[in-house]
Amino acid sequence: MAILKILQYPDERLHKIAKAVVRVDETTRKLVRNMAETMYSAPGVGLAATQVDVHERIIVVDVSETHDQLKVFINPEIIASSGVSQCEEGCLSVPGIYETVNRAERITVRAVNENGATFTLNAEGLLAVCIQHEMDHLIGRVFVEYLSPLKQTRIRAKLKKRLRETM
Ligand code: NI
Repeated sequence: MAILKILQYPDERLHKIAKAVVRVDETTRKLVRNMAETMYSAPGVGLAATQVDVHERIIVVDVSETHDQLKVFINPEIIASSGVSQCEEGCLSVPGIYETVNRAERITVRAVNENGATFTLNAEGLLAVCIQHEMDHLIGRVFVEYLSPLKQTRIRAKLKKRLRETM
């Protein structure tokens, strides 16, 4: 297994649109294992393939406190949603920034797992928020883009400054 490099906002590659996975094979499973390891070591509760510069529709999520409830979603689709949830979100690609975003409170997701089997999952609370956040990455959307233009400018400036300081 390997720890993958996570793209940092405002990297342009975070805005690429991921393609559907055509075949779930050993390459896919290896990527999923590496994504999970990268997420756990960060540590984070979710990671999209886009964040490791692989533009395929794959996300991994684990919101458990015990870090043993890995959920893998390949080609995820939200087939039902209801309610509104406001949750403070963070992102491994936007370190140190936490902002409140509106999401659906309950969702039903259909996806394929790492063995190629289709499944449907009902999610609510943090899990639902996390799935929506990660699925946004697959369409090139970072959570800070829900904020006001002024806030986004401030965040970009802050992160660019931090990047310069660490180089
Ligand atoms: Ni994120």
